[in-house]
Amino acid sequence: MSLIELRHVSKRFGWLVVLDDVSLAIETGKSIVIIGASGTGKSVLLKHIVGLLKPDEGEVWFDGQRIDTLPERKLMDVRQRFGFLFQMGALFDSANVAENVGFPLVEHTHKAPDEIREIVQRKLALVGLPDVGKKMPAELSGGQKKRVALARAIALNPEVILYDEPTTGLDPIRSDVINELIIKLQRELQVTSIVVTHDMNSAFKIADRIVMLHEGHIIFDGTPAEIQKTDHPVVKRFVLGEASEMELAEIGKVAGTAPSPPIREIEGK
Ligand SMILES: Nc1ncnc2c1ncn2[C@@H]1O[C@H](COP(=O)(O)OP(=O)(O)OP(=O)(O)O)[C@@H](O)[C@H]1O
Ligand SMILES: [Mg+2]
Repeated sequence: MSLIELRHVSKRFGWLVVLDDVSLAIETGKSIVIIGASGTGKSVLLKHIVGLLKPDEGEVWFDGQRIDTLPERKLMDVRQRFGFLFQMGALFDSANVAENVGFPLVEHTHKAPDEIREIVQRKLALVGLPDVGKKMPAELSGGQKKRVALARAIALNPEVILYDEPTTGLDPIRSDVINELIIKLQRELQVTSIVVTHDMNSAFKIADRIVMLHEGHIIFDGTPAEIQKTDHPVVKRFVLGEASEMELAEIGKVAGTAPSPPIREIEGK
């Protein structure tokens, strides 16, 4: 039995069909990467998994329990088994790092302050930031903020961690630190990871399995090795990072014409 299952899930916002009969089953302990163009519903899909959005049609299951019909109070219990690194991974700016990481523990457990301090310290060490507890979020770099947000996401020892574009906005080195952390958490804590990303380097590095969303449907579901060999034109273009003829036409460049001038020339203007 799968840990997480979407069964024929459809979701619309007004006339916009975002998910159209999407079925997806995720096994315990695996690392699934979800790719797809901007606006295809990747974040919407993640939000269905934790019951932050409800499907118009279909069902969402977690660990043998149907969750899309659960009352909010019961959903809270289910959500505690998840760590969610949001796309806009916001920390509370007016609280220091230790308070940020300890927040879920204060909110959802009855642990004593000493014990919370100790857990916070352990989580910060796990993301490689043992000495930043007293700092304010404004004093951290973008990559450090993501790692603190990750420490907070794992404060309650979640069984599943959802990452929504964890490396966006980071330079390649800092992105790689996050990738390595995702792999480390999966290995050391045996968590199930679901990672939404635009970054194919990250996808290849992290994924046991890659799922691609396009126009409401899953158009690819397979291993990193399989996606590199795919003949599906849309999937192939995404993996190679190439625009389609239609997309090129939109910016007035007809496919097959001379290549763009080198960057240096553009910068010189
Ligand atoms: N709560 C909402 N109300 C109305 N429309 C929404 C809502 N949430 C998402 N949408 C719309 O659903 C579509 C999919 O959004 P989503 O955020 O899932 O895209 P995404 O694949 O995560 O994109 P990106 O890569 O840019 O983060 C978008 O057109 C978005 O405007
Ligand atoms: Mg998104």
